[in-house]
Amino acid sequence: MNALFETTALHPADALGRPLRDLRVSVIETCNYRCPYCMPEGQTPEETALDRSRRLSFDDIETAVRGFARLGVRKIRLTGGEPLLRKNLPQLIARLAAVPGIDDLALTTNASLLAGQAQALRNAGLHRLTISLDALDPTVFRALSGGRGDVADVFAGIAAAEAAGFGALKLNAVIQRGVNEDQVLPLVEHFRGSGHVIRFIEYMDVGNCNGWRREAVVPSQQLRDQIAARWPLRALSATYRGEVASRYGFADGGGEIGFVSSVSEPFCGDCHRARLSADGQLFTCLFAAQGQDLRAAIAEGVDALATRVDALWQRRADRYSEQRASGGRDRKKIEMFYIGG
Ligand code: GTP
Ligand code: 5AD
Ligand code: SF4
Ligand code: SF4
Repeated sequence: MNALFETTALHPADALGRPLRDLRVSVIETCNYRCPYCMPEGQTPEETALDRSRRLSFDDIETAVRGFARLGVRKIRLTGGEPLLRKNLPQLIARLAAVPGIDDLALTTNASLLAGQAQALRNAGLHRLTISLDALDPTVFRALSGGRGDVADVFAGIAAAEAAGFGALKLNAVIQRGVNEDQVLPLVEHFRGSGHVIRFIEYMDVGNCNGWRREAVVPSQQLRDQIAARWPLRALSATYRGEVASRYGFADGGGEIGFVSSVSEPFCGDCHRARLSADGQLFTCLFAAQGQDLRAAIAEGVDALATRVDALWQRRADRYSEQRASGGRDRKKIEMFYIGG
């Protein structure tokens, strides 16, 4: 597990000794949902509305991924906004799956369009799928999508992903106090024994437009206790160092669940993730105020890109979640729908 964290002359460490292993690539800066915790209807600032002509092309993204792979990145996660809105996405997936060094290629989606695309994504070489699902109840689900989503589409997407051979899926549920706490046990019950893994995510203060309040965060510990009272749990060890979710197995063998506890138990110490926005900005933290423009380096090619990112990574000292308590919450932060989860 520690081999993942080795740094060498070729594979840089940041200012806090953390390697670069994981790149999250946003392929589109918009979404067909308006989840109030991410892209609240009518509240998103104009400046993040991106001119689509500034989007990186598939050639650009492939160049970037080749450069990042040279610096030690092994895992790519495609995000958005909603990545399945990007035209011809399977073509990009096929190109990224062929990049030497990339041994994990995953995608996070709201699954609204997954039923029609799952097989093509699989055929193109996508390894893994993560699906956002905040409620089983159709009315609660709809409200949490900003009035736009139908939970039946998500279930059609899950069925299509199973049929396409994706195997174990991950399901992400953001839980907010007084909003969808009552969905936790039904979600666990539904996915127990299915082979899929549901993870509960603490509501985070990403961006500036979701009106985050600490009181709305349900600490993972509370959910864990609630779930364990019904279905006893035992802690499982991380599958890799720096894993975001902490894992728990059902004592009766009904599979596993996870918790992403960025607010109550920050995990910056092992954070080896970089994020690339759809318009070519590098963000070294989910809570960064601004990115570094990589477009000129990408246009020059893989070598130039790798040199520039190497220098930027070596200066990186981000650890926002660990510093949250000591302030900084009100400063400008990039929006989640723009940078990807
Ligand atoms: P695996 O490869 O399956 O381990 O994926 P993952 O759990 O790293 O990725 P996923 O996108 O499913 O992460 C789940 C959620 O955790 C995201 O939607 C974010 O809300 C949150 N998250 C992921 N990475 C970070 C991070 O670096 N910092 C913080 N604060 N939250 C993160
Ligand atoms: N807090 C926690 N997770 C969030 N996501 C988006 N906004 C937030 C937030 N404020 C995550 C969800 C979703 C993914 C795309 O982004 O996990 O599944
Ligand atoms: Fe919701 Fe994901 Fe779209 Fe954000 S990007 S509005 S979390 S579906
Ligand atoms: Fe990494 Fe920033 Fe998240 Fe900390 S807050 S884990 S540094 S992305």
